[in-house]
Amino acid sequence: MKVFLTGGTGAIGSHALPALVRAGHEVTALARTPEKADWIRARGATPVIRSLFDIDALTTAFDGHDAVVNLATALPATWQWLSQRAWRRCTRIRVEGSAAVAAAATKAGVAHLVQESVSMIYPDHGAQWITEESPVDHYPRAAGNIAAEANTARYTAAGGSGVVLRFGVFCGPGAAHSAEMFALARRHVVIMTGPPNAYISSIHLTDGAAAVLAALTAPAGTYNVVDDEPLTHRDYAAALAGAAGARPWLRGPGRATLLAGHRMTSTTRSLRVSSVLFRSTTDWSPGFPSAREAWRTFAH
Ligand SMILES: NC(=O)c1ccc[n+]([C@@H]2O[C@H](COP(=O)([O-])OP(=O)(O)OC[C@H]3O[C@@H](n4cnc5c(N)ncnc54)[C@H](OP(=O)(O)O)[C@@H]3O)[C@@H](O)[C@H]2O)c1
Repeated sequence: MKVFLTGGTGAIGSHALPALVRAGHEVTALARTPEKADWIRARGATPVIRSLFDIDALTTAFDGHDAVVNLATALPATWQWLSQRAWRRCTRIRVEGSAAVAAAATKAGVAHLVQESVSMIYPDHGAQWITEESPVDHYPRAAGNIAAEANTARYTAAGGSGVVLRFGVFCGPGAAHSAEMFALARRHVVIMTGPPNAYISSIHLTDGAAAVLAALTAPAGTYNVVDDEPLTHRDYAAALAGAAGARPWLRGPGRATLLAGHRMTSTTRSLRVSSVLFRSTTDWSPGFPSAREAWRTFAH
C-alpha cells in the first residue's frame, strides 16, 4: 500500500515507520525539520515538510495514497504533566490536527485512515475487564483524544474506512516516560501512581507498531491495543524494579497522586483493558504478553 504517516518520528511512529517499510509498503512521512526529513529518508521512506494544520497542503500531499496513519501528538514532558498550559500544544494537535488530517484524507479520496488514541479515556472499572463497548469518560485531559476519535468517525461517515487504535501506556525503549522510570528504578526509586491494586494496561512499542500495520486492513471501528495481561500498579512496579535489578528504597507517590484530581487521573484510574476485539478481527497479537516482559527490554 501507499501509506502517508504523520508522527513517524515519535515514540510509536519511529517503530511504525520502519515496520511499514519492512512490510513492503511505500511510505511517505510528514517531517517538521530538514534533520527529521533526513532521519525519515535514512529509513527508506519519503519525507515531506507540511503543516499538520493546513488542509489544502495535506490534501495535495495525501493525493495518491491508499492510507493515512495519524500518530502526531505532543504530550508534555513528565515534569510538566500537571501544567494546563503545557497540554495546550498536545490538545491542539489532537483536536485541530486530527480534524485537518481527516478532512484532507476525505478530500484526497484516501480509502483508509488510522488514528492514534489512548485507552486511558475509559473510566475506572476496578478489576472489571474493559472492552470497546464501555462508554468513555469526558474528563478534560481526554478532550483531544475524544475529538480525534470523532474526526475519524466523520471521515468514516463520509465514505472512508477509519480505524481508531486506543493504545495502552507505552512501555519499552523509545517511550520517554518509561525510559525515565527505568533510570529512576536503577537508582532504587520506583514510580507508582495511584492505588496499588488499580490496574494499568500497557503495550510495548514494537507491538504498538505491529498493530498500526494490522490496522491498515482492519474493518472501520475502534479497537483497544494493549498487552494480554494488565498488571496491578503493585505488580507493575515490582516488574519494573525486577527488570532494573535494584531493590526499591522509595516507591510512590501511590495514593497521594489522587490529590492531583483529573490532571493525573489517566495514571491513577484502574484500567484492565481487553484487546480481544482487535486480536480476533486481525492477525495481530502482542509479542510482549505483559509489562513484565516489556520492562526487561530495557535491561539489554
Ligand atoms: N499511549 C501512551 O502511553 C502514549 C501516547 C503518546 C505519547 N506517549 C509518551 O509520551 C512521550 C512523548 O510523546 P509525544 O507525543 O510528545 O512525542 P512523540 O510520540 O515522541 O512524538 C509525536 C510525533 O508527533 C510529531 N509532532 C509533534 N508536534 C507536531 C506538529 N505540530 N505537527 C506535526 N507533527 C508533530 C512529532 O514530530 P517531531 O519528531 O518533529 O517532534 C513526532 O513525530 C513519548 O515518548 C511516549 O512515551 C505515550
